[in-house]
Amino acid sequence: MKRMRRLRVNEAVRGMVRETRLDKRDLIYPMFVTEGENLVNPVESMPGICQYSIDRMDEELTRVLAAGVTAVLIFGIPAHKDETGSEAYNDNGVTQRAIRHIKAAYPELLVIADICLCEYTSHGHCGLVCGEEILNDETLPLLAKMAVSLAAAGADILAPSDMMDGRVAAIREALDQNGFQNRMIMAYSAKFASGFYGPFREAAHSAPGFGDRKTYQMDPANRKEAIRECMADMEEGADIIMVKPALAYLDVIREVADRTDYPLAAYNVSGEYAMVKAAAANGWIDEKRIVMEILLGIRRAGAKMIITYHALDAARWLDEE
Ligand code: PBG
Repeated sequence: MKRMRRLRVNEAVRGMVRETRLDKRDLIYPMFVTEGENLVNPVESMPGICQYSIDRMDEELTRVLAAGVTAVLIFGIPAHKDETGSEAYNDNGVTQRAIRHIKAAYPELLVIADICLCEYTSHGHCGLVCGEEILNDETLPLLAKMAVSLAAAGADILAPSDMMDGRVAAIREALDQNGFQNRMIMAYSAKFASGFYGPFREAAHSAPGFGDRKTYQMDPANRKEAIRECMADMEEGADIIMVKPALAYLDVIREVADRTDYPLAAYNVSGEYAMVKAAAANGWIDEKRIVMEILLGIRRAGAKMIITYHALDAARWLDEE
């Protein structure tokens, strides 16, 4: 008789036939760095996640290294915002200084810099604004300038999350022209206009002041278009492509993984984290079990790397297995 249960008889057998495994080298931990001194500001909707001023970042970075996580994704929160997001490409901006600090103190840590204007603009949009319109081509030189500035600060990987058309090509060209031929681009290729970014916007002070992001981020209904976005970014010179968010888009992750041969990242975003933490705090779910199942699901869907606020916990739990 055909018995599927033979392969489930004990942990040794299950471990041997297991098709997907988590590896902490695949985890990327997002961090928020804020202007100011002696600040550790908890993000209310993301328990366990704080904004750190540069002088207090080491506490968190020490935990990152102790957990064995090898990559961080840095978001900066400037003191000053304006129409053109000028702090984004100020060589002495908070993000640049934070990255310089990290690379000097922990040279082995892989530093990924988010490239987007929304944390730096007074209107909170990811590009320049004219009336109600979010300008595309006029935004590209600013994103390129930001990428060069953060590469000069030491970022190993530049990660554009703005969803302007043509930004990967503009950033690649600017990096090459400025001697950063070896710095990588991780493109937020299929980034959907999602309600799951809510808690991040509290953490990064980046909610749009008017309207929404639907004219540049993707419609959640579209799977084929996600493939076209990924193909376009690969042609423009992306080294790594990304699908974001992860959980409501596992089918998109699978399809991109099947149809491309580039390293694929998935972003397990703030709202996905907040839901787990809230249910766990109420005692309604087993946090460790749920987190590991979610991360495994994202890997099984086809993502190679996972950007997740659970990274430090997950890395520690992997050690226990
Ligand atoms: C934009 C950006 C966002 C996130 C990462 N980069 C928010 C947005 O597009 O509004 C979301 C990350 C998360 O929700 O965890 N710079």
